Amino acid sequence: MQGENHKAVVDQLKRPLQDLRISVTDRCNFRCVYCMPSEIFGPDYPFLKEKMLLNNQEIVQVAKSFSQLGVNKIRITGGEPLMRKDLTQLVGALSKIEGITDIAMTTNGSLLRSKAKELKMSGLNRVTVSLDSLNDETFGQINGRGFKVQTVLKGIEAAKEAGLEVKVNMLVKRGVNEDEVIPMARYFQGSGHVLRFIEFMDVGNTNGWKMDDVVTRKQILNLLQQEFSLKPIDANYFGEVATRYVNEDTGDEIGIISSISGPFCSSCTRARLSADGKIYTCLFATKGTDLRGPMRNGATEADILKIIEQTWENRVDQYSALRTKETVAARSKEKIEMSYIGG
Ligand code: GTP
Ligand code: 5AD
Ligand code: SF4
Ligand code: SF4
Repeated sequence: MQGENHKAVVDQLKRPLQDLRISVTDRCNFRCVYCMPSEIFGPDYPFLKEKMLLNNQEIVQVAKSFSQLGVNKIRITGGEPLMRKDLTQLVGALSKIEGITDIAMTTNGSLLRSKAKELKMSGLNRVTVSLDSLNDETFGQINGRGFKVQTVLKGIEAAKEAGLEVKVNMLVKRGVNEDEVIPMARYFQGSGHVLRFIEFMDVGNTNGWKMDDVVTRKQILNLLQQEFSLKPIDANYFGEVATRYVNEDTGDEIGIISSISGPFCSSCTRARLSADGKIYTCLFATKGTDLRGPMRNGATEADILKIIEQTWENRVDQYSALRTKETVAARSKEKIEMSYIGG
């Protein structure tokens, strides 16, 4: 259900605006090799200062405008969103916005154990927890800080107990964790949690991405089919990024997110709000549209709505669909970082 003043808006490629992903911090307690390599995100890295971040009231104001433009689904991202102190209050306020029917959060799970219950009580519906390996040594190397697998598994357990719907995301990088694809699929069989495998992408400028490091959807499927009988099934909703499969023996669902080998730009309905208040219309964008400045300079709700509407109407992004060696090279230095804009 959308608000009474709901006004549908489409971009230059006729894609509707459906989801809003809100990054609430650019900080994270992990240093995943594919996202925030520790050599670059060290003690001197210029993270956003507190006063540069939108406060909860400002985030809610932006989310209200988005809901009036047809958005009914919000995903909270980071960095690591649970590092933001007033997150529970934010979730509570977002869940009260008319027209917002689904609030999800993408998290590394390390702080979830103590927060799951209060998040559920304040209105969070779902969490997606990133977990790239069940082996402590591999996982510690990937997360760059030696975090243990059990810490995340306990977070997942707490989320389930609290009544949150849980998905698990595993990024697959060649030579790092492709041998964990089958163990992860075995482990989550019968858990009720949808496990999704993600192709390593060329987001940001710091993760040293090479095509050779990508384990493609086809290769992931080949691995899984050594042990499981998988049948493709339809998307749950228009714009879903994961291709879905069902395990014919157990009924478990798995997904594969193939931004490299099977881009999904033609149905990309997602807008992203950075923690410092800029709207980005693509994960691979170089520039955003600022809302913080206007809001702090007295812009009215109608002004903000207009800026968002125009930004979406002018949108032409389809980076993954048009990806070539040349486009990768051309943008190799000026993209926003994944930790800044959220997954
Ligand atoms: P639901 O379907 O609502 O459960 O969530 P989701 O799959 O849209 O969100 P999630 O944060 O779990 O996304 C999983 C991963 O897919 C992200 O971490 C990214 O790696 C990738 N992804 C999500 N959205 C996009 C997108 O718009 N473009 C590209 N290229 N990748 C995306
Ligand atoms: N390619 C694909 N997904 C990525 N993520 C972070 N960096 C990348 C990348 N380079 C995803 C993680 C996590 C989410 C926060 O973002 O897998 O699930
Ligand atoms: Fe942190 Fe998630 Fe990036 Fe890992 S992928 S460094 S957990 S934001
Ligand atoms: Fe959307 Fe950009 Fe991802 Fe394409 S590459 S699906 S336009 S965010």
